[in-house]
Amino acid sequence: MALLARVTCLVLTTLLAIAGCQAKTVTYDFNVTWVAANPDGLYERKVVGINGQWPLPVIEVDKGDQLVVNMYNGLGDKTSSIHFHGMFQNGTNDMDGPSMVTQCPIPPGSSFTYNFTVNQNGTYWYHCHTENCYPDGYRQALIVHDKDAPFANDYEEEFTVTMSDWYHTLTEDIAPSYMSLYNPTGAEPIPNSFLFNDTLNVSIPVKPNTTYLLRLINIAAFVSQYFYIEDHTFKIVEIDGVYTEPTEADTLYIAVAQRYSILVTTKNTTDQNFPIVTVADTVLLDTIPSDLKLNNTNWLEYSKSAPYPQADIQVAQAQDLVPFDDITLVPSDGMPLLPEPDIQINVTVIMQNLMNGYNYAFLNNITYTAPKVPTLYTVLSSGNLATNSEIYGEFTHPVVLNHNDVVEIILNNNDTGTHPFHLHGHNFQVLDRQPPVGPNFYSNLNGGNPVNYDSSNHTTFPSVPARRDTFVLPPYGYFVIRFVADNPGVWFFHCHIDWHLAAGLGMLFIEAPTQLQERLSIPEDHYQACRAAGVPYEGNAAANAQDFLDLAGENTQQAFIPAGFTARGIVALVFSCISAVLGMAGISVYGLTDLNFHTMYTGPDAPNTTESVAMDNVQPKTEENTG
Ligand code: C2O
Repeated sequence: MALLARVTCLVLTTLLAIAGCQAKTVTYDFNVTWVAANPDGLYERKVVGINGQWPLPVIEVDKGDQLVVNMYNGLGDKTSSIHFHGMFQNGTNDMDGPSMVTQCPIPPGSSFTYNFTVNQNGTYWYHCHTENCYPDGYRQALIVHDKDAPFANDYEEEFTVTMSDWYHTLTEDIAPSYMSLYNPTGAEPIPNSFLFNDTLNVSIPVKPNTTYLLRLINIAAFVSQYFYIEDHTFKIVEIDGVYTEPTEADTLYIAVAQRYSILVTTKNTTDQNFPIVTVADTVLLDTIPSDLKLNNTNWLEYSKSAPYPQADIQVAQAQDLVPFDDITLVPSDGMPLLPEPDIQINVTVIMQNLMNGYNYAFLNNITYTAPKVPTLYTVLSSGNLATNSEIYGEFTHPVVLNHNDVVEIILNNNDTGTHPFHLHGHNFQVLDRQPPVGPNFYSNLNGGNPVNYDSSNHTTFPSVPARRDTFVLPPYGYFVIRFVADNPGVWFFHCHIDWHLAAGLGMLFIEAPTQLQERLSIPEDHYQACRAAGVPYEGNAAANAQDFLDLAGENTQQAFIPAGFTARGIVALVFSCISAVLGMAGISVYGLTDLNFHTMYTGPDAPNTTESVAMDNVQPKTEENTG
């Protein structure tokens, strides 16, 4: 992998290393262009490559290193950016990467340098964070090595394992049909396959009686994976960059963006290879195409001459897998439960159709809508008004946090979906989650009603809670998390299912804006990207730099459907109009045949299997969807 990117260690660094100081500068030059790839052997497609290669280079650093990524956007037709998922970016909020939050989208032909000190350890990843850009392949592991990790002497060798869903269609061709009139239920696009290290049929060579560290990362856009190794247990030693007391487990549920490091000790015999099994969480899928392979087998390879058996699991059995509940893990630093919060943020997930008939995702009544000026730049250009949340616009859903406040988020889920929520800039303590991960995870769905958090009646919070940066919100359930606002910056809190983020399932924390103004200055190339993209970098959410309290012209969400109309009624009305138009002009049907998105078949009389490849033939089936 190192060959894929030019890694430069400065002469100074070498001198420092000789002097006994290990910190060095690690520089990657990323020329981002389209390349072709066929990782599942089923279909060659355009993917986002770096320096002409895909899979992308794994970024590898040591704690304390300065990481410099010089990115050139050579895509020609798409804006871009990089988020280093899980990096706190304390003091470098401008290097965090989400477009219109901490930077402008980098337009084709522009360069942009990310430069920050890595002051943490463990397993991370990087991905594009501009609209729906990472499902096109722009995502890969980021590993921070630590020879002082508590388990550093317990293993002989380490392997990084990524798992991912994979689409044969470019996101720019999928996304418009997802957010559309023709998808009033908000059914997510169904992947075409699932990858393991960006390919299939991987063998991890092992010796008998030896312990290995496996770093597991779900770099998918949508689908969680169950993970187990036949006939083996393992010890969890890290989640999302937080070391844990070594804890035995046999099955994991790894949602998108989550990471686990596990220690696997091999058997003392070499006559068998053992399946490493990943199984897609089918509960997330609205339809299951008959040709979608839901479980994949890769191998712990003890012997090249032994057989390579396929996993012994049927799709129906996958529902019975009982994964380890990550809320029970104990961080090895022993950090105790944070005190009672200074501020409590109580938000509820819902999905709802707005007046245009599209299905949006909300926290309370707001579907995140990007502002006209990246929010960080609003902080920096607003002077004393930076602590006034109004200037960030209603529809970015901003909450201003005071420096060092203890923040508690209560997240209720009034939706039937599973939502892995990620907070930028922090890991957080997980205090409560119901229903717990395990056999009762879907029990509220069976009950038919959401169960919201009741602060006067909850389970006892753990005295040393697990911490991580991405945590799964159960269907119709809730979770409660806490963190300290000790990292001045603008931080996105959002569902990491990329389709749900596109549907607005996110909000912003404007953390300690006054301290942020004192500490941060933006490098010139970041503003240059704005100029090249034609995006203003001063002013409030409406790009008003004269009167920050005048939000006229801000980007707004669509109107709510008026009382008296049901969402289904509106959708039916809109669909009748569409049908009428189609009837009058049959030719326009051809204009709709690019709804190459097979979750169209979600009506009551839909077949329960669909062709996942021949999507071009999908016609809008309006009647089924009108309800
Ligand atoms: Cu991987 Cu906004 O995050």
